[in-house]
Parts: sequence; C-alpha cells; structure tokens
Amino acid sequence: MKTEVVKINSRKPEKKVIQKAARIIKNGGVVAFPTETVYGLGANALSARAVKKIFKSKGRPSDNPLIVHISDALMLAGIVKEIPEKAIPLMKKFWPGPLTLVMKKTKKIPDIVTAGGDTIGIRMPAHPVALDLIRVSAVPIAAPSANISTRPSSTEAKHVLDDLGGNIPLILNGGKTSVGIESTVLDITSRTPTILRKGKVSKKDIEMIIGPIAEHAVKKRGKVKSPGQKHKHYAPIADLILVHGGTKKTKEVIKKYDGKQVFVITFFERKKDYRDAKKTLVLGKIGDESTAAKNLFSLLRECDRSGADIIVVEAPSRRGIGDALLDRISRGAKTVV
Ligand code: TXA
Ligand code: MG
Repeated sequence: MKTEVVKINSRKPEKKVIQKAARIIKNGGVVAFPTETVYGLGANALSARAVKKIFKSKGRPSDNPLIVHISDALMLAGIVKEIPEKAIPLMKKFWPGPLTLVMKKTKKIPDIVTAGGDTIGIRMPAHPVALDLIRVSAVPIAAPSANISTRPSSTEAKHVLDDLGGNIPLILNGGKTSVGIESTVLDITSRTPTILRKGKVSKKDIEMIIGPIAEHAVKKRGKVKSPGQKHKHYAPIADLILVHGGTKKTKEVIKKYDGKQVFVITFFERKKDYRDAKKTLVLGKIGDESTAAKNLFSLLRECDRSGADIIVVEAPSRRGIGDALLDRISRGAKTVV
C-alpha cells in the first residue's frame, strides 16, 4: 500500500484535506492524524472491522484497549452507560485537552475497541485537525498512538511514516505535536478515581477539581500495574539507561560503555560536559520540563537512526509534566541507575 503524507494547517485545517481523510474513516479505513499530545492512528470506533485494521497495522496486542476520541460531549450519548458525577467538572475544565476518562461502555462500542472490557477510555483532543476530522467523519474515532507497538510514540509525521509507511493509506502532517507525551488516563468508574497513566494533567490538577484521587503505584524499575500498561512501551532499539543524580554519575556510565556507540540525552547547560560520548542531544534547558516532554520521543528516535548502542538519558525533575516524562523514560529504560 502506498502511504500518502499530506500537509495540513494545524490552526486552520484545509477543508479539502479533512474531507479526504474523513472519507477514508467513513469507508472503514485508517488515517494517522496529529493531536496535541502525539499522533494518533484513527478508525471509526463503531466499526469492529475498521478498528481491526488499527491493531493489525501497528502490531498492537489485542488485550490493550484503545482510546476513543470525540469532538463534542454530546457524542458520549449512546457510547457510555452514564457520565459519572465527578467526570462532569473534569470535562468542563480539561476538555478539549490531554485527559482521558475511563467510563462504562454501551454495546454500541464493539468489544475489540475495549479489548473485551466493559469500560472505555474517552478524550476530546485539543487540536483543530483532530477535532475537524472527528466532526466531519461524524463518528467517534478510536486511536492509539501512531507508532509500532512498544516503540516511542510519534510526535512528527515522519515518525509515523518510518513506523507505518506502506501499511496505512494517509498521514496528515500537522507538524510537531505540542505536548509530546500521551494523555493522562483517569479511571472514573471507581469510588476513588485512579490515574492509570500519568500525563500533562497531573494528580494535583485533578484533585483541585474533584478532591482526593489515587494513582497506580509505580514499582521499582518503573513498571505500572494496570490494563495495557503491562506491555513493553516507549523503548528505543538501543539500550536506554536512565541516570538519576547528575553529571558525575552520567560520566561514569559513559566510561563503563567505552567502545560502544554511547549517546547522551541531557540538558542544554550540560551539553559540553560529555566529551566522551559519541553524540550529545539536548532535551531543553534545566527546569524546562515542558520542552523536554516535547522533545524526548523525537530524540530517542534520532539516536536509533544514528546507530546508538546505548542511550544515556539524564532524569528531568518531577516538576509539572516532568513526573509523567520520567514515567515514560523509566518504562522505556533497560536500566535505571
Ligand atoms: O494522548 C493520547 O492518549 C494518544 C492520542 C493519540 O490521543 N493516544 C494514546 O493511545 O496514547 P494508546 O492506545 O497508545 O494508549 C492508550 C492507553 C493504554 O495504556 C491503554 O491501556 C489505556 O490507555 N486504556 C485505554 N482504554 C482503557 C480502558 N478502558 N481502561 C483502562 N485503560 C485504558
Ligand atoms: Mg501508545
């Protein structure tokens, strides 16, 4: 299959391009499109046949449920059994935006979407292209991140092409995504809502609106216990080593792998510190966690492309989105030191 990559204006999406993509969705095909977090690989969430193509093209395990994207809260009608009371103020505050809410599904959503489960993750993305595509397709769109399963998510159209080129008909190229890591996933069906995946919308942000919530404990080595999170994730091809604790430790790690292609992902201020590394890449300035989140996946891919054996990543602080970013790096890591 030939994969077409079409440029689209992220602020004012061209109608013609949206119509072309919506036609594919309506006909039961898949389309990759930008959201504010990462690129998604979308299909009509009401069609089991269409959704099957998503699993097939990215090699996704069938026990990992998909997030369904809507452009209007009215689209919830018919696909969820009820809107939990606590969901309403969260929808008002964070939609459109990077918060996925897990609710009880109706029969209208085929089992394949939710991996056989009775709940469904839903979000309204804050991206004109995504919103227009859903609106014009006139169906909710199921979309995982547009990458090969286990690999880092795609934050640029070229990442999607690298991973899925030849397997999907169309990629809408809306440039680099602004958040850079996937949405926060909050299960709102239980008495105490629980964060299943960290993201830009933090525990604190949510608690300001609805009071105390829980978070799935991150075990040593950063493995999270929750559906779908048991799978390997965010991993580059090279071995990723996450280093906590500054320049000295990072230098020791680089030395240890002398003779291998060691790449370092660090901060602007420390770029000059690692002369022994084959290449040094920059997340952003120290303390700028938002920029680091925006750059991480792209830098991991760059290391793989340039032939890294080992990627040493210096830990960002846990401030703001830093906590979620650290979660992604930990789960992609082979070793944490
Ligand atoms: O930002 C995002 O969320 C991106 C963009 C494209 O919207 N999507 C994304 O989808 O990251 P995906 O499929 O790569 O990750 C979805 C995560 C998985 O960890 C999955 O297990 C979880 O959400 N999830 C989806 N539905 C769920 C459900 N019903 N219950 C529990 N977890 C669910
Ligand atoms: Mg994913």
